[in-house]
Amino acid sequence: MSNLFQEQLQALRARSLYRKLREIGSAQGAEVQIVGRTLINFSSNDYLGLANNPRLREAATEAIAEFGVGAGASRLISGTQSPHVRLEGALAKWKGTPAALCFSSGYAAAVGTIPAIVAKNDVVLLDKLCHASLLDGAKLSGATLRVFPHNHLGKLESHLAWARREHPDSRVLIVTESVFSMDGDRVPLRELVEMKKRFGALLLLDEAHALGVIGANGRGLAAEEAVAHNVEIQMGTLSKALGVSGGYICGSRSLIEWLVNRARPFIFSTAPPPALAAAALAAVEFLASDEGEKRRQLLWSRIKTVREFLPPSPQAQITKRDQGSAIHPWIIGDEQTALDMSRTLQSENFLVPAIRYPSVAKGSARLRVTVTADHEDAQIRALCEAMGRLNV
Ligand SMILES: Cc1ncc(COP(=O)(O)O)c(C=O)c1O
Repeated sequence: MSNLFQEQLQALRARSLYRKLREIGSAQGAEVQIVGRTLINFSSNDYLGLANNPRLREAATEAIAEFGVGAGASRLISGTQSPHVRLEGALAKWKGTPAALCFSSGYAAAVGTIPAIVAKNDVVLLDKLCHASLLDGAKLSGATLRVFPHNHLGKLESHLAWARREHPDSRVLIVTESVFSMDGDRVPLRELVEMKKRFGALLLLDEAHALGVIGANGRGLAAEEAVAHNVEIQMGTLSKALGVSGGYICGSRSLIEWLVNRARPFIFSTAPPPALAAAALAAVEFLASDEGEKRRQLLWSRIKTVREFLPPSPQAQITKRDQGSAIHPWIIGDEQTALDMSRTLQSENFLVPAIRYPSVAKGSARLRVTVTADHEDAQIRALCEAMGRLNV
């Protein structure tokens, strides 16, 4: 029994695809403690540096004093406490939608929402680089799934025409992201929205890596492109730029009511701790303020520094330089080389993860550099110099 998975683990090691956990002995931030050393952290999605922000900590602490630590039951039983309700109200207001619903993670939001919206006789059209949670949600729904090449609107159009021809009475759902998590590039949202309107399809847009980063007060790409009113299902997470944990769906009242009645991870799981909802509410309020907008501008000045100093990657021809986000992929290709480079950087006190299959396609391993508003320009320049010295 104890050897049950040894062979499979060995096979992963042989292909440089073995993963193990890394213990961080400090709060999240531009610097973290790992194996007794301080590393400059270029691996986190805490883009605005809110994960250890005093205002959020205080909101969580006050909520613990008032509401305790556990929610006690699922949201529909007795787990809906005032912080959950306040957070959903604030999210809906901030995103400009009639209603919002929170889940315990972005993953749960995806695997709960897609199967609630489409079923066996429907069609899902999904971008090839969509996050695993969206793919899993689409598979779980039982709908016919067609994956289109990344950001390829021509292919999407032919899938839409096919879906309308072959499934004239079905619901057709397009699923994509604002900012792609491992590539950092953006979806051509306006053109996609025009197309989905022509074919009468629904759109689920995952704003996980755009929220807090793009658009006035960080409302996301749909707000920046002024098309939010045409995005029926606006998804995002509370776990990245908002610095906390959880996922959300914003949309019409009937959508939210339907999810309350049908989204299984929402119905059959204990509500998120009220203190996390309170911290996320503090994050939304911060983002909506002038101070939040200033923090977002600071993030963009850090992004500019990376763009200026990051040397071309070994596969520069396929590395998109103008990312338009806080995510900078440095594509290497070979899995072992990516691991070796990540280790070399760690020996120089930089934490930059090697991203490998199945997070990205086989043979497209990369270093994923993310910057936050908390980084100093000097830290970013030092990383770029170290990456320039990597033996490629
Ligand atoms: C694009 C995208 N969607 C959804 C998720 C899942 O969000 P969460 O980490 O809140 O479960 C992630 C994060 O890993 C992501 O990158």
